[in-house]
Amino acid sequence: MSDRIESRLKEDRRFPPSKSFSDRARVASHAAYESMHRQSLEEPDVFWREHTTELVWREPWTKFSEWSLPTARFFVGARLNITESCLDRHLATPHRTKAALIWEGEPGDTRTLTYFELHRHVVRMAAALTDLGVKAGDRVAIYMGMVPEAVVAMLACARLGAPHSVIFGGFSSDALRDRINDCGAKVLLTQDGSWRRGNIVPLKKMADAALEQAPTIEKVVVLKRIGHDREPVVMKEGRDVWWEDLMERPASPTSVAHARKPDAFDAEHPLFVLYTSGSTGKPKGVQHTTAGYLAGVHLSTKYVFDLRDDDVYWCTADIGWVTGHSYIVYGPLSCGATCMMYEGAPNFPDWSRFWQIIERHGVSILYTAPTAIRAFIRAGDEWPKKHDLSSLRLLGSVGEPINPEAWMWYHRVIGAERCPIVDTWWQTETGAIMLTTLPGAAFTKPGSTGLPFFGVDIAVVKDRGEPCAPNEGGKLVVRRPWPSMARTLWGDDERYRKTYWDVIPDVYFTGDGSRRDEDGYFWVVGRIDDVLNVAGHRIGTAEIESALVSHPAVAEAAAVGRPDDLKGQALCVFVTLKAGKKAGRDLKDALAAHIDREIGKFARPDVIRFTDSLPKTRSGKIMRRLLKEVASGGETKGDTTTLEDFSVLAKLRTDEE
Ligand code: WT7
Repeated sequence: MSDRIESRLKEDRRFPPSKSFSDRARVASHAAYESMHRQSLEEPDVFWREHTTELVWREPWTKFSEWSLPTARFFVGARLNITESCLDRHLATPHRTKAALIWEGEPGDTRTLTYFELHRHVVRMAAALTDLGVKAGDRVAIYMGMVPEAVVAMLACARLGAPHSVIFGGFSSDALRDRINDCGAKVLLTQDGSWRRGNIVPLKKMADAALEQAPTIEKVVVLKRIGHDREPVVMKEGRDVWWEDLMERPASPTSVAHARKPDAFDAEHPLFVLYTSGSTGKPKGVQHTTAGYLAGVHLSTKYVFDLRDDDVYWCTADIGWVTGHSYIVYGPLSCGATCMMYEGAPNFPDWSRFWQIIERHGVSILYTAPTAIRAFIRAGDEWPKKHDLSSLRLLGSVGEPINPEAWMWYHRVIGAERCPIVDTWWQTETGAIMLTTLPGAAFTKPGSTGLPFFGVDIAVVKDRGEPCAPNEGGKLVVRRPWPSMARTLWGDDERYRKTYWDVIPDVYFTGDGSRRDEDGYFWVVGRIDDVLNVAGHRIGTAEIESALVSHPAVAEAAAVGRPDDLKGQALCVFVTLKAGKKAGRDLKDALAAHIDREIGKFARPDVIRFTDSLPKTRSGKIMRRLLKEVASGGETKGDTTTLEDFSVLAKLRTDEE
């Protein structure tokens, strides 16, 4: 049998949920899923009314939705404070003393915060922020590691109606500065440093560098995580305050009263701005609002993870990405879940760390990324085999297509062939999971991301919007607005419309290519725009290129992805130099360091190639498709008739790396 046919057969394997799982599942059959999905689209008012009763509404909504694309509003007329659904509502129930967060630091220290304690911290922080001048509508930047205080920070902002913008701790100071300036943040919450693989990420030092050119920041709150001996920081008089001091000194009585009984905001009040990469050099500030986002993450957490009261749920994402926002903070807390949170690297001090955490804390649901799974496969089965993983009952995957081999390993070695796997497809812009299989209701197929979630009307279409036939590849689009969708890009309604709503008439374009098979299962192939997915991080090729050309030696640059066993995609850049600049090892190192500075270490190219010129069309457009083929070492199969100078290509292919 040829490899091709064999892999096709493998892809077609189906894994039904076990009877014991289905018997206890919230949605226990395909028919039940289908009828709920149908109702969510045909009678959305009824569906969402029924499924949002647990949430805390200060004013009820009068109408489910109202839209005139690309503007959409959901839960019209409602007023709420999202943190009351995530915290206050649990205080009157036995959840009061339940662990909201079980946290483990990289050095091995642990902390548990009950719902009562988390609420108390959030109220205190909200009062302190009020005293620092934060009001509803003000933006607050958060540049922290994976510590419980980062969750407190987000919720304290939300409590005040001050949109937060979390900037991933792996971003450089330049990237931090640009994001702060774009959203005009007034306050920055950060920490002295955070632990990563035994090293210290000097967050406060990087913040100081960023703030030299970020005039909107008035106050900086600094959490002490590492301590003065290891990571001394300089506090700027009048601007910087210690987190600990703020929490200890009494806030003004009016601020405290206001934090205890916070304001209710309109359903469409902005909750956060989260920057992500697009196809230009400028990151997009994806803006989410309150009620629709809450409803989306609440419902998806509950049903996709089939969440039960005794679960210990662990999403391994960083709160700097949307997965952390939706599935560490707002989704699980609104469900009253116990969330595991881990500060450091998966391989510190060795590759058994994740499995140790699962064993030590009795984690029952694990939600992680294919790139991590592939790294674990490479490290060897002996690490998970050393640990008791019998507490696990459900596994999840997110961030990129999971290759069937990784899926099978996850199923066999981690799930002991017992745990269903939910492969969840969604985006920063969608706010919540859009495609997946509900674990008790549907069989899974390794490599397929499954079926539409409730309220999601999604399809694969051709360029003008005509539907594709089963198994025909096309563009993945959403055919009607959904509650948790981004409402705009911060300060740029026009770019929002152009990027998502103007590509294909009347629908939201995801930027992904996909097919839908004869069973209605989606197989997402990945981005079809100039955006890469490197180790689960979204990286815009244009961002890399504009960073490279800002280096004094670089004339022109083109960034492309090539398939990579571990990272999904690897980042390859082709660089032409200015006259008189010398190619070589030193310059490669300098360019890598330049990317670290401009964006962050995670965006460092895997391969840098110098070339005399780049292949271009007659109109001057760089032919990325050809470069991709060169980078992958494959044949240049495609059409080259528009290529201006054939010798460029021949040269590129024979060049040494
Ligand atoms: C892009 C969104 C969603 C949170 C993490 C990433 C790719 C995401 C899957 C999946 C295939 C996936 C898509 C999407 N993607 N999940 N299960 N199967 N592809 O969020 O940075 O906004 O990236 O990640 O290409 O468009 P993001």
